[in-house]
Amino acid sequence: MNREMPEPESFSVLPSIIGTGSADPYPLYEWLRTHRPLCRDASGVWLASSHALVTRILDDTRFSARPPPGAVPLDDPLGYTNMVVFQTGEAHERLRRFLAPLFSRKALLSLQAFIDDEVARLIDQCEGLPRFDLVAHIASVLPVHTICRLLGFPDEHGASYLQASAGAWQLISGAPMSAQERALAAVQTETFIAQVESFMLAIEPDVVPDHAAARFLRLEQEGGMGRREMLVNVLFLFIAGYGTTLLSIGNSIAALLRAPRAWQALKDNVSLVPQAVRELYRYDPAVQSVFRYAWDDVEIDGYRIRRGERVMPLIGAANRDPAAFAAADEIRFEREAGRSLTFGAGPHSCMGLALARMQLESLLSALMRRMPGLRLAPREQPRQQHGSFHGYDRLMVEH
Ligand code: HEM
Repeated sequence: MNREMPEPESFSVLPSIIGTGSADPYPLYEWLRTHRPLCRDASGVWLASSHALVTRILDDTRFSARPPPGAVPLDDPLGYTNMVVFQTGEAHERLRRFLAPLFSRKALLSLQAFIDDEVARLIDQCEGLPRFDLVAHIASVLPVHTICRLLGFPDEHGASYLQASAGAWQLISGAPMSAQERALAAVQTETFIAQVESFMLAIEPDVVPDHAAARFLRLEQEGGMGRREMLVNVLFLFIAGYGTTLLSIGNSIAALLRAPRAWQALKDNVSLVPQAVRELYRYDPAVQSVFRYAWDDVEIDGYRIRRGERVMPLIGAANRDPAAFAAADEIRFEREAGRSLTFGAGPHSCMGLALARMQLESLLSALMRRMPGLRLAPREQPRQQHGSFHGYDRLMVEH
C-alpha cells in the first residue's frame, strides 16, 4: 500500500483486513495508523489502528460486541448472542464468574503434565518424518485435545470435533460468506450443538461433581442458565479455545523460523521460552481484529461515533504500533515495555490466555530439545485470512 492508495472513506479496505485469501495486512495497518488512526471505512465500519485507540475502545463499556437494542435488526438464529463474548453488564460478569474456576491456577496446573505428554507424543510421531506439515501434525491436534481435557469431552473424537465445529468457527470469524455458505455453516453448527448436548446429558453431575459439564448442568438445573445459553457457551469455549491456539502456534513458529537469530537465541537459552511466547504472540496475532457496536454516541479524537455504528479495533495494527513498541516489526524477546493486545483488553479480555501460553511454551521447549535443526520447507507458504482470524492452513517444515 502506498500513499496514493484510495482513501478508506471512498474505497472500502475491509476486504483486505477481514477478507479471505493470503494478503499481508501489515503494510495497510501501517498506512492507516500513520494517516487515519481512526477512520470511517466506505463500508460504514469505523477502523481503529493505533495502540492507544484500540486499547481505549476495548476498555470502554459503551462499546459491545452485540448491537444496542433496537438499533440494528438482530439476525441470530443460532443464539450466538448468548455467548459470553456478546454479553454485557451484570449478565456478562455473572458468566465470567461462572467460567473462572475452569481457568484457575489449580485447574491449569493440573493440565500441564497432560500438555507436555501430548507434545511429546506428537513430536514422536513427526520425528521419523524429514518433512511434515506442522499444522496438520501438531498445531491442529494439541489445542483440540487440550480443550477436550479442559471441558471433559472424550478426546478420541478430536478430529471429528474439528470438522463438526468448522461451521461455527466460520460464522464467528466475520469472513464474507454467501447465503448458501452461511446456511451450510448454520446446519453444521446445529449438528455440533446437538453433539455437545448429547455428550453433556451423558454426564451425571452427582457422580462427577467437578467435571466442567457437571458445573454447567447444575447451573441449568438451578435455573441460573437456560439450555441454549449453556450449549452455545460450551461451543464458544471449544471454538475460542482451539481455533485461536491452532493459528497462533503456526504464526509463532513460522515467524520464529524466519528469524534465525531468534531461533538460535532460544536454542542457546531455553529459559527464554516464556518471554519468546509473549513476543511471538504479539508479533503476529491469530485474532487480528474484533468488532464492537457503539451503545451511545461516543466522541473520540474529534469524531462522533453514533449509537449502533460498528467499530473494528485492529489488534494486529495496535501490536505493531511504534508508539507502544520500539522496533515493532522485529521479534525481540528482551522487550519489556508495551502491552500486547493479542488477548484483547478490558472487560472481554481473553480467559484462556494462560492456557494458550502453556501450550506454545511446552511445544517450543520440546522443539528446541528434540528438533533443533527445524526449518521452513523452501517454498512460498502463504498465511491465510479467514475473516478476523489469520494463520497458516499448512506449514511445511523440515528437520
Ligand atoms: C492464542 C490463543 C488465543 C487468542 C489469540 C485469543 C484471543 C482472544 C481475544 C482477542 C479475545 C477478546 C474478544 C473480544 O474482545 O471481542 C478473547 C476472548 C476470550 N477467549 Fe481467547 N484467545 C486465545 C485462546 C483462548 C483459549 C485457549 C480459551 C479457552 C478455552 C479462550 C477463551 C476465551 C474466552 C472465554 C473469551 C471471552 C471473554 C469475555 O467475553 O469475557 N481463549 N480471546
